[in-house]
Amino acid sequence: MGLDQVRLNAIIDGEHSFYGSQRTEVRVDRRFNPGTRDFLATQVQPNMRVLDVGCGSGGTLLRLSSRIASGLGVDNDPEHIRMADEALRESGAKNVEFRQLDFLEDGGDLEPESFDLAFTERGPIGFGGHGMRLALRALKPNGLLFCEMIGNLHHQEAAALFGTGQPRYRMTRSLDEARVAMERNGVDIRLAAEIVQKRCYPDVYEWLRFQCSIWAWLGVPLPTPDDPRLALFAERNTIDSGEIETTHHVVWVAGVKADHTSGSEIFHHT
Ligand SMILES: C[S@@+](CC[C@H](N)C(=O)[O-])C[C@H]1O[C@@H](n2cnc3c(N)ncnc32)[C@H](O)[C@@H]1O
Repeated sequence: MGLDQVRLNAIIDGEHSFYGSQRTEVRVDRRFNPGTRDFLATQVQPNMRVLDVGCGSGGTLLRLSSRIASGLGVDNDPEHIRMADEALRESGAKNVEFRQLDFLEDGGDLEPESFDLAFTERGPIGFGGHGMRLALRALKPNGLLFCEMIGNLHHQEAAALFGTGQPRYRMTRSLDEARVAMERNGVDIRLAAEIVQKRCYPDVYEWLRFQCSIWAWLGVPLPTPDDPRLALFAERNTIDSGEIETTHHVVWVAGVKADHTSGSEIFHHT
């Protein structure tokens, strides 16, 4: 498959950032896949104080803001906090705050037992036992912990040809590993799921625009426009519609901190 070298060059030479990847055009097949924000929105209550660890540009917490009492989003990247603050101003929400904080270094500064729900979307609660223990410390007894991690099949089509590079963070990637870590730290597991989604880009150029943002963020060297793997990638992953199909795979593990009675409802078995 011959690719347009000029277009490839323009994309590779462009500016790339983590949130730049969200500006690419993609068709998402959500069947059997609720989406993290939609799922969290079904779990929150109006009296809850919520902690988002690794909040990025703040979209999830702002989406939840009208359904909760208050929220705090923390992230160690000052650019992400700047974006979150800007989104907060635009939203007009008054019950949410964003703070620059390296959670793994300074998460212990958060007031203990002060949150009803702590969650992370591919952020530092999922980087190992230390992050999980800090999140549990911040949670009230009987509070909820939700952790989304990147799964082993995530972007498997690109990984098969280009490798995965050095991961930016050491993240737990398997459901079993995450379950064991939570159980060991005293969480009563209520949810453990593999979420697999198909994402389709209109063509290989749009996929490359997305992928360069991810590679640049991960510190993976970008391919040169004449890299034969780009044509091979297009050949292998073009589907009947002409789109490029890729796999998005995350792992969800969630549970309750201690106290086995409150929060439950009484049902009469018939
Ligand atoms: C995969 S991104 C997800 C961001 C956001 N939750 C979203 O879904 O758009 C992970 C986030 O965790 C943040 N992060 C990584 N290490 C961190 C740490 N030690 N403390 C706080 N935030 C961290 C990154 O800056 C990034 O914004």
